[in-house]
Amino acid sequence: MDSVEFNDKTVSKSTLKYTGKAKQVFLTDNPDILWVHYLDQATALNGKVKENIAGKGKLNSEISHLLFNYLTKHNVENHYLRSISQTDELVTALDILPIEVVTRNYASGHFVSKFGVEPMKKLAPIVQEFYYKSDELDDPFMNDLQIVALAFATENDLNQLREQSKIINQLLTALFSKAGIQLVDFKLEFGRTTQGNIILADELSPDNMRLVDMKTGKSLDKDVFRQHTGDVTVGYHEVLTRLQQL
Ligand code: ATP
Ligand code: TYD
Repeated sequence: MDSVEFNDKTVSKSTLKYTGKAKQVFLTDNPDILWVHYLDQATALNGKVKENIAGKGKLNSEISHLLFNYLTKHNVENHYLRSISQTDELVTALDILPIEVVTRNYASGHFVSKFGVEPMKKLAPIVQEFYYKSDELDDPFMNDLQIVALAFATENDLNQLREQSKIINQLLTALFSKAGIQLVDFKLEFGRTTQGNIILADELSPDNMRLVDMKTGKSLDKDVFRQHTGDVTVGYHEVLTRLQQL
């Protein structure tokens, strides 16, 4: 399917704009709208490790769809427009900020190796970190002054990113908790609209979050792939099913 209805108009898929590690982004005949296709691909170490995993694109697209709809219902402005198929969606074309915003509720991953703290130590207050979105440089950590000095964003933009991420964290933590899942940490991307507003973009899936089963302590996210401890799609499927049942 290469055309779809949106707001009583037909939107048609056009040329491939970008192939990323997990998604393909196509232009459409409307310059304000992009067509996103989720790939069956998993990567680790910023793309250095790559594997085809059947069914992963569909699971991520469906989880993302559900989470964006939930945030929209709670007045969090975001790029999601509509789902096209189990793997494809329409989004608002944004000027993406080259900054990844990581939120941590519990210590895990790099936070544990960097500071030698106990895994799953509760972090109060929550920790928010910025990383420069650059695979070549391995997504280096950036502080506010580095970001402002390099003109990637203003201090006011950074305050907005922190404030929006905090609200999104509260909403997602509450939702996952109802599904018996602990939201350990996650990464968000934001972009600027043509009107200049900064809104949530990219995807919301276990590729970019650490999710742990509250009862068993089992990992339901991409750590399963990173640590070669099994089939990631089992955990992703469990996440989708539990969210659908709420
Ligand atoms: P990373 O996982 O580090 O973001 P990637 O570029 O390989 O890297 P993919 O998810 O495969 O990630 O690719 C999707 C690309 O589309 C990303 O570069 C993302 O920033 C971009 N993107 C997401 N939402 C939008 C949007 N609304 N407008 C423009 N670009 C977008
Ligand atoms: P982090 O612990 O910094 O890195 P790693 O996963 O390599 O140990 O990651 C914190 C959370 O943010 C985790 O859920 C993964 C997510 N994340 C991404 O999805 N992409 C990124 O580029 C970064 C830096 C983090």
